[in-house]
Amino acid sequence: MRKRCFITFEGVDGAGKSTQLEWVRDFLKKNDIPATVTREPGATPLGEKLRELLLNEGNGAHPETEALLMFAARREHIEQVISPALARGETVLCDRFSDASFAYQGGGSGVDAAKLAILENWVHPAIQPDLTLYFDLPIEIARQRANGLNQPDRFEREGDRYFHRVRAAYLARAKAFAERIKVIDSSGTPQAISARLKDIITSQCL
Ligand code: TYD
Repeated sequence: MRKRCFITFEGVDGAGKSTQLEWVRDFLKKNDIPATVTREPGATPLGEKLRELLLNEGNGAHPETEALLMFAARREHIEQVISPALARGETVLCDRFSDASFAYQGGGSGVDAAKLAILENWVHPAIQPDLTLYFDLPIEIARQRANGLNQPDRFEREGDRYFHRVRAAYLARAKAFAERIKVIDSSGTPQAISARLKDIITSQCL
């Protein structure tokens, strides 16, 4: 039987994760693999309200409060969207998941990783992504690419030093969980990146 696959997409803004998520969605469709596409924070009625608070009104919240709200939204998301889709045998493509909390709230804002690990074990003791695609790009280039795309949210307004810490945290996690997290060098062309994704997904999820 075909393996169902829980795939998460990570990276700082401007690294191309959302474009590549669309590519993977199309690739699965062409291969007749049913997929649910979702994102964090958000995806449930409560989660979308928390997203609004976190991204547009969250300025000034303590970083641990931010982490708790991210995991609260995640708890709903798993219950209402991720677990049911996996139970139906669908592949799940999720734009950000717990690695983002370790990278942004942990690396960026300095929340103790041990506390985040407690939340992770509480909120999803039995579920981890089967595969995480981490789109990596030097911060200077990512910032240039992201500039001017949208109105920047609370995180996008952070300075370069914050994003250097976020990237370092992602890379440290990729090293610690090398089996699960694949680092995708996003400095190449979109075609070269898609070719790499095709190899990874074909070997791990088809
Ligand atoms: P993002 O994927 O950048 O949304 P968009 O493409 O619409 O801008 O995600 C929103 C922001 O939320 C992003 O800047 C990272 C942040 N975030 C965290 O800080 N912690 C988390 O746990 C998650 C899931 C996201």
